Amino acid sequence: MTTRHSGLAKWVGEMAAMCRPDNVYWCDGSKEEYQRMLDLLIRSGAATPLNPALRPECYLFRSDPSDVARVEDRTFVCSRNRDDAGPNNNWADPEEIRAAMRKSYDGCMRGRTMYVIPYSMGPIGSPISNIGVELTDSPYVVVNMYIMTRMGSRVLDQLGTDGEFVRGLHSVGAPLAPGEADRPWPCNPDLSKKYITHFPETREIWSYGSGYGGNALLGKKCHSLRIASVQARDEGWLAEHMVILKLTSPSGRVYHVAGALPSACGKTNLAMMQPSLPGWTLQTIGDDICWMKFGPDGRLYAVNAETGFFGVAPGTSMKSNPNAMLTLRRECIFTNCVLTPDNDVWWEDMTDTPPPRGIDWQGKEWTPNCGRKGAHPNARFTAPARLCPVIAPDWEDPRGVPIDIILFGGRRTTTVPLVTEARSWKHGVFLGSIMGSELTAAAFGVVGTLRRDPMAMLPFCGYNMGDYFAHWLRMGGRTSPEKLPRMYYVNWFRKSDDGRWLWPGFGENIRVLKWMVERLEGRAGAVDTPIGFVPTMDALDLTGLSIQPQDLDLLLKVDPADWNKELADIERHYDSFGNRLPAALREELAALGRRLGG
Ligand code: GTP
Ligand code: SPV
Ligand code: MN
Repeated sequence: MTTRHSGLAKWVGEMAAMCRPDNVYWCDGSKEEYQRMLDLLIRSGAATPLNPALRPECYLFRSDPSDVARVEDRTFVCSRNRDDAGPNNNWADPEEIRAAMRKSYDGCMRGRTMYVIPYSMGPIGSPISNIGVELTDSPYVVVNMYIMTRMGSRVLDQLGTDGEFVRGLHSVGAPLAPGEADRPWPCNPDLSKKYITHFPETREIWSYGSGYGGNALLGKKCHSLRIASVQARDEGWLAEHMVILKLTSPSGRVYHVAGALPSACGKTNLAMMQPSLPGWTLQTIGDDICWMKFGPDGRLYAVNAETGFFGVAPGTSMKSNPNAMLTLRRECIFTNCVLTPDNDVWWEDMTDTPPPRGIDWQGKEWTPNCGRKGAHPNARFTAPARLCPVIAPDWEDPRGVPIDIILFGGRRTTTVPLVTEARSWKHGVFLGSIMGSELTAAAFGVVGTLRRDPMAMLPFCGYNMGDYFAHWLRMGGRTSPEKLPRMYYVNWFRKSDDGRWLWPGFGENIRVLKWMVERLEGRAGAVDTPIGFVPTMDALDLTGLSIQPQDLDLLLKVDPADWNKELADIERHYDSFGNRLPAALREELAALGRRLGG
């Protein structure tokens, strides 16, 4: 197969001339092709088929130990002007980095096939969607893109002879000499050789050296967030790191919620949560990437850019996320999990009783008390969204779903109450801009340190975050205020002084969503605090939950001393954006200071 699109054909030709693969293969996106690719991966030793009686059509991969997560230090946004990338991004001069990377790419696909993957982020043909083409020498990437995106011939058809697309080039950076045997997980193990580079002005992505997750599945963070955030700024829409869910109240009213939580803070849990309150139904639309545009009626409409979940495996269990576990019963790919004696997968906290032994993510013999974790903390599953038992029937509606509520949240063991309602869109943007999260083992850095991660976009905003805040503020002026979603700041992670979670979380989070919905209806009580409206003690529905009054008190507490400390930290955070920080946010910060009596 090839294409009628001369611009695409020319670019593929140029990239192939540089990377010099043995073959160029155009993916048609069929199930047969997917199966052929997996057979190839089994033969090369990269994929282990799992027990078909326990987990039909499922495969386990083990990555190279040097290649287990996104590499933020090696991620660059190469706008012409350094200030346009902002303090939130690593920057390099686009022509200089291109020259350096061309040297790495020169002949980098020798002995391999270059796969051409045309893909659509969002339903094909939706006014909110966008097409990209990824060139990769990794068949692992091809099978993951098959689950995570709409790809193949139907996308080429949509692209026609002259459609626009985002150009993505990816290589694992491990050419093979004639006769040289391949490794199960080829990559360039030298961190300093890895590059995840974005050229926002020309809508291009160049990725080299890693085969893992967001480094390699270019439709995900590179296209759908870093490049798309720039497109969204230019064209007046939003490309966000958010879950999308549909909530139906006992009276049958439907609400749509979009929620930004940083990586490993529970988007997948929230997206498919099983509500503990009777009568409430929650259905999934997406768990990671949300694109929103204003519809003809002036409301914001959202689509899930993806068709699968690339979720953190450890911690996922029938207790924490039953709907995820049920999604994982067949047709999934697992990476860096434990292989059990009966050829199934396992990870920490999946079950109360671990398997007696297994093969760990590094391919070594493992037992539960050998002192090492069996699965890597960032072990992931790749699962088709259509298999989720609570996927919303209209999750692929090309019109998107109208958003009623936007929530921001993070992992804060102190200071931040369970839920706060913003006073206005502007105040909501302020709350999103100051949001932060304490690091977990799934990220690099010192566990527990607070990282400001505005709108969960710090590693994903493809331009200066000061301008990004201004864009959010402008978006609020593009429709009448009553058509805008209401904004909330949530924190499931507050702890008591003796280190207990104060809030049970997971399915109990419905109680917080219920309060938000009742606020929209003008029915729920709230206290006006310096940081926004917080539920009154009796406004949260706590039926059937045993929570100590003093714990509830602490959960909802806005402590001026804590917040005065917080203010100083927010000042520093804001200072990093210099004169790109919108004055409106400085004003919000000053107003918070005044309300705190400082
Ligand atoms: P990315 O895929 O990396 O973008 O992350 P994600 O936001 O989808 O994160 P994920 O769902 O993998 O986060 C899971 C982590 O959040 C696990 O450690 C869970 O235990 C924790 N978690 C999720 N929901 C809750 C909750 O309501 N309360 C508490 N305490 N922990 C939660
Ligand atoms: C995240 O880190 O937010 C992810 C995983 O969703 S990855 O696709 O690897 O970026
Ligand atoms: Mn994510």
